[in-house]
Amino acid sequence: MENKRRLVLVPCPLQGHLSPMLDLATTLHSKGFFITIAHTQFNSPNPSNHPDFVFLPISDGLTENDFLSGDFLDFIATINTNCEGPLKECLVPMVDQVACIIYDTMMYLGETVANHLKLPSIILRTSGATALAAYGAMPALQEAGYLPLQDSKLQELVPQFYPLRFKDLPLGISKSLESILQLLSIVCIIRTSSAIIWNTMDYLEHPALEKLRQDHQIPIFSIGPLFKFASTTSSSLLEQDSNCIPWLNKQAPNSVLYISLGSLVSVNERELAEMAWGLANSDQQFLWVVRPGSVLGSQWIELLPEGFEEVIGERGLIVKWAPQREVLAHGVVGGFWSHCGWNSTMESFCEGVPMICSPNKGDQKVNARFISYVWKVGLELENGLERREIETVIRKLMLDKEGGEIRRRAADLKEKVELCVKKGGSSYNSLNDLAEYILSLERERWKIKEVKYMVLVPYPLQGHITPMLQLDTVLHSQGFSIIVAHTKFNSPNSYNQPDFVFLTIADNLSHFDSFIANSFALLSAINENCKAPVQECLAQMIEQQKPHDRIACIISDTLMYFSEDVANHLKLPSIALHTSNASSALVLEVEHELKRGDVERAVKRLMVDEEGKEIRRRAIEFKGKTEILIRKGGSSSNSLNALAEYIFRHCSSTVGTVHGTVHGSGNKDMSNPYDRQLENVPLDICGIKLDGTNYLIWSRTFTLAIEARGMSEFIEEPVIQPEEAVALKKFKKKLRTLDQHHRSVAEYFAELSGVWQEFDFYQGFQAVCTKDAASWLKRLEKERVYDFLAGLDVEYDQIRVQVLGRVPFPSLGEAYAIVQQEESRRGAMLHTPPSDRSALIAIPQGGKLQAGTSNGANDRESLKCDYCQNTGHTRDFCWKLHGRPPRGRGSGRSGVVEVPCVLRLKPMFQSLQLLLLRLVLGSYHLSRLVVFLKGRCKLSGV
Ligand code: UDX
Repeated sequence: MENKRRLVLVPCPLQGHLSPMLDLATTLHSKGFFITIAHTQFNSPNPSNHPDFVFLPISDGLTENDFLSGDFLDFIATINTNCEGPLKECLVPMVDQVACIIYDTMMYLGETVANHLKLPSIILRTSGATALAAYGAMPALQEAGYLPLQDSKLQELVPQFYPLRFKDLPLGISKSLESILQLLSIVCIIRTSSAIIWNTMDYLEHPALEKLRQDHQIPIFSIGPLFKFASTTSSSLLEQDSNCIPWLNKQAPNSVLYISLGSLVSVNERELAEMAWGLANSDQQFLWVVRPGSVLGSQWIELLPEGFEEVIGERGLIVKWAPQREVLAHGVVGGFWSHCGWNSTMESFCEGVPMICSPNKGDQKVNARFISYVWKVGLELENGLERREIETVIRKLMLDKEGGEIRRRAADLKEKVELCVKKGGSSYNSLNDLAEYILSLERERWKIKEVKYMVLVPYPLQGHITPMLQLDTVLHSQGFSIIVAHTKFNSPNSYNQPDFVFLTIADNLSHFDSFIANSFALLSAINENCKAPVQECLAQMIEQQKPHDRIACIISDTLMYFSEDVANHLKLPSIALHTSNASSALVLEVEHELKRGDVERAVKRLMVDEEGKEIRRRAIEFKGKTEILIRKGGSSSNSLNALAEYIFRHCSSTVGTVHGTVHGSGNKDMSNPYDRQLENVPLDICGIKLDGTNYLIWSRTFTLAIEARGMSEFIEEPVIQPEEAVALKKFKKKLRTLDQHHRSVAEYFAELSGVWQEFDFYQGFQAVCTKDAASWLKRLEKERVYDFLAGLDVEYDQIRVQVLGRVPFPSLGEAYAIVQQEESRRGAMLHTPPSDRSALIAIPQGGKLQAGTSNGANDRESLKCDYCQNTGHTRDFCWKLHGRPPRGRGSGRSGVVEVPCVLRLKPMFQSLQLLLLRLVLGSYHLSRLVVFLKGRCKLSGV
């Protein structure tokens, strides 16, 4: 459980973004989460400051120059583009350990990567909520024609955004308004992220947060100021000069003005001079941070005005970078002249230091307006950097009564901040809620995976293995992982099902046991021998299983009744699969020993007689009905959905939530496909991957899976796939060349039917109405009569003509019956032994085929035609009388093989066995019943 609580945090590599992200990391680490910081190489944090975190450098392809020379928004876009692939690659191997990805708003690649890895994601907003709301209002302002800003309107109030003036709008982060709006469209819209963490306090930004909560409908955790929850570890990218602290120690309380314009703002030489003379003329003590490179055209303070240093003497100290939080906490600091970056603002509030606001761009402008006008803990320099205004404002804040009022309010605000972060405060509670929420996300995710494995136990005979593997495929398409526990005897081919795990059971069947396959002895032996190994193996799996690797249930063939005992023993749910039809589970027709005559009569009844025709008609009707059943909305399709739902509900220890998550039914309207679309998001739709050769199986499974989810509305009209077109061509060619080739009519017809069936599968005709369907079937049937007649041997020329001349045109069944009658007549008249009319596999007597020595060929020698007087044929087949048949299909005669066959059909069970089998199949308590039967009837060894 422990190693799943890893959070991957993706900070934006700028000081004002990196600090709150690392503070969040420290805070969440203290709540028991493991932390991985996925960071760019550019502006990378110092791992030695955070020994508890794992640092994952992401190759970003950036240089310092990209940052300094380019547009800020281009820079953000480049990072996101460059880092997406590398971040994905880094996270793939550890994805199972990650609970979620928390990314900075600017690092929106975090969301893409999370989606790709099917991980939840959470946004961290490092700026204020009010500023974001102002960003959000910009598109509407542009539409209303207020943007770009007009100089004449700068002092006017923005409609519906009191008390923001147009000059306070968060512009200036890029030269182009379009790119700002473009970035906003990415960062302001919540797409798939689960929640937002905000480095702010409810007390401070309640109205903006409430509005955002209403708009976004996802949890918003306002847990600022984050650094108040984190340890004091520094996350500064620049080296902090602590020499200023001894200097501060020498000053009087509230006497020092601290000046810092943050990590990004630059000034030109004129602005630097205005700042310098304003400070000098104010006569106040000051600690001034001039960041190296922040004065355009110089390294550091080379451009300070001449005579400035002499004027200020010991009154002021200039440093390259200060330990700002420590400085603000120092009691001698009585004011903070700031650019109003959100971190500086919060840091100032936390220490109750009143502010002088000198915003430069973006959110700083909104913050400044709110600091001075709403929260009233500062004064704003309204005319940019101008020495006289600077002097006046400094004096006002540090010396005047008005300054004293502002200081009092700042002290008040400090108390409020402390209340927010104290136990029971809004930020404190929100942080706990966040930790719980992340755990719940994690639980949800693992719950989805919890119902994972289905153990399927097929009975090792073809007729049982096939439906069980079909069920496997369907369940796999519903999101279950499949373990096929099969006997060694008749083991299925695992290569055909690469997505399943195959578990070979040591069945201890001797050669003799397997030889008497399909008998009761086999049934009994398998159930006796397999129970212990299966139980042992599953018990081991359960012991070693991780919570997300759970075995959901055992589905076994009814004949593998030992599985029920195993399931009971292991406290697993079990489901039985009846592979035969429901009626046969209740009634088994006990046939007497099969004799050749019986078979022949039965085949004749089916293939020749009126009764057979009727059966065939019903069979075709049944085929149509079957197709309806498996379609969406059909009873089988519905049943499949119900089965999957049943397993999710009843085969999981965490019933309700699992159901809610996996099927997403919850409160949603499941008749709406767009709601259903959300279900099973983290699960594969279909385990079979299309690899260019398996379109048929892939398309069937995929369609089934989509239909089972009730999502077929999303699939477009069916089109013939290229493979289908090729297959159709292939089958057409096969039909053209297929002929009787001296086989029995039944054999020939059976082969032809097989090709027709394949052809039916591929052809994509969909009737729009019943009339269409009827005429299509009629046409198809007519074509099939032609196909059938065209391939008959030359002996049937006469009958072919007769069939074709019939009015009305005969059905396929009628045509077949006529030809078969002719075959029987010819068999009787020409004394040829009846050839096998069964389409079943037949084994020749003696086991060998003898080319060229068929009785039919010998018999033909004795025939004499009373028209041309030649031997070898009769008047019916006289070419002189009827003309030579066309060459081609059916004309080849070399290598004629006509072999008398006997069917190897043996009774499989004696009547007592059949009775017992009937009872077994009809029972829902298989194992108990079989124990009962065993005691009384000595089942084994029958
Ligand atoms: C940037 C944007 O400019 C700002 O608008 C946005 O709100 C956040 O990102 P930045 O310029 O870095 O902010 O300012 P700010 O948010 O105030 O962050 C500066 C950080 O640097 C603060 O945490 C501050 O404590 C630290 N700092 C500043 C120092 O450690 N030493 C200094 O000398 C100056």
